[in-house]
Amino acid sequence: MTKLWGGRFTKETNKLVEEFTASIEFDKELALEDIQGSMAHVQMLSDCNIIPKDDAKTIQHGLQVIQNKINAGDVEFSVAHEDIHMNIEKLLIDEIGPVGGKLHTGRSRNDQVATDMHLYLKKQTEMIISLLTEVQSSILIKSKENVETILPGYTHLQRAQPVSFAHHLMAYFWMFERDKERLQDSLKRINWSPLGAGALAGTTFPIDRAQTASLLGFDKIYPNSMDAVSDRDFIVEFLSHASLIMTHISRLSEEMVIWSSQEFQFIELDDSFCTGSSIMPQKKNPDVPELLRAKTGRVYGNLVGLLTVLKGLPLAYNKDMQEDKEGMFDTVKTLVGSLKLLAPMIHTMTVNETKMYEAVSKDFSNATDIADYLVTKGLPFRQAHEIIGKIVLYAINQDKYLLGLTLDEYKEFSPLFAEDIFKLLHPKHVVGARKSEGGTSFEQVESQLALADKLLYDAVPSS
Ligand code: ARG
Repeated sequence: MTKLWGGRFTKETNKLVEEFTASIEFDKELALEDIQGSMAHVQMLSDCNIIPKDDAKTIQHGLQVIQNKINAGDVEFSVAHEDIHMNIEKLLIDEIGPVGGKLHTGRSRNDQVATDMHLYLKKQTEMIISLLTEVQSSILIKSKENVETILPGYTHLQRAQPVSFAHHLMAYFWMFERDKERLQDSLKRINWSPLGAGALAGTTFPIDRAQTASLLGFDKIYPNSMDAVSDRDFIVEFLSHASLIMTHISRLSEEMVIWSSQEFQFIELDDSFCTGSSIMPQKKNPDVPELLRAKTGRVYGNLVGLLTVLKGLPLAYNKDMQEDKEGMFDTVKTLVGSLKLLAPMIHTMTVNETKMYEAVSKDFSNATDIADYLVTKGLPFRQAHEIIGKIVLYAINQDKYLLGLTLDEYKEFSPLFAEDIFKLLHPKHVVGARKSEGGTSFEQVESQLALADKLLYDAVPSS
């Protein structure tokens, strides 16, 4: 089969080399972006009188026919034409004849592929931002239902202080909010147009880069053609933001695995989100959060993979850069799939308020509050801490909790104790007392929810 670049060659390409160097198996994912980029390029060539207007119309019509065929699943790409760019160019020439060969005037696959990647990632990033909003919204709904649901808050996975379940869940809302901000910010750089950079040094044709940029919805053009064709920072950035999102997803998933265990029983995942065991009939396994936790691995891998590909590459384009694609596609697929599952999984889980409350009633998570009590009576916090430590040890030896001790027992440790201590020790009071800004008191949680509501629902829609 003759190659589009065959002029300089006297021998056929070795079959194994052809397969090894081809990217069509994966970059066919960019077909529509490639056509979009070509449409803008040919329009500009025509407007700048670089090719005749009639030729441009024929090419645009041909590209449209090919796009329709692709959408209908009606084209066969070939490894012999290496990648999506040359496959589409070949299809075009087959469709409209030699005039199709004018499309590549003043352009190289190097600025072409970079343009495709920018267009692709722009679309995916916008979609991922909206999926993150759906996850946030399902967290917000669950949180609103659980402001007064109390469970132990943990540090070191040891019971620390009781908190509102809404407060715990909302911590993830803010993680995803920052993730969205990062993605939003990355769009500024995704929105640079590399088109018109040529192979690396620009072109001799009087092209109009501003026109193609604006036709494609980019708001800036790369000021340096060498940077334009060799920049993959925007992909690294995406993979890195995706890694952090997966970190957040995996932390939440881990909590769901723990909370739904027999030992905790704080939540129950909906049957439709669990699977059974082929041998143990009693099992209901949290496979979905387990896999969400595990999928983080491949997303990190893709980030490290691309950083490694780029490290030490001289300017400008190198074939190494073709390796930027599979990891990026895989990350998009993994992230989109994960976010689509996460929202309904949160939405459908049931919260076992009784079990959570039992857990806070049978622990010492109110110990800080008795220390604070002694502090309000004038004792330095450090001394109060020491006294309460002794009381806790005493209670453990007596097989009791702090609410189970008598006032006389308390007075053995400090004369400052009075009857009012007992009402302070109830979990609800302990939670309600943490009124500092951003704390877990019910009022603070309510104002956090109001803030989140405003962020999600009052945002001015971008036109
Ligand atoms: N398939 C190539 C890639 O993805 C397109 C650019 C090829 N450029 C070249 N000079 N061989 O990177």
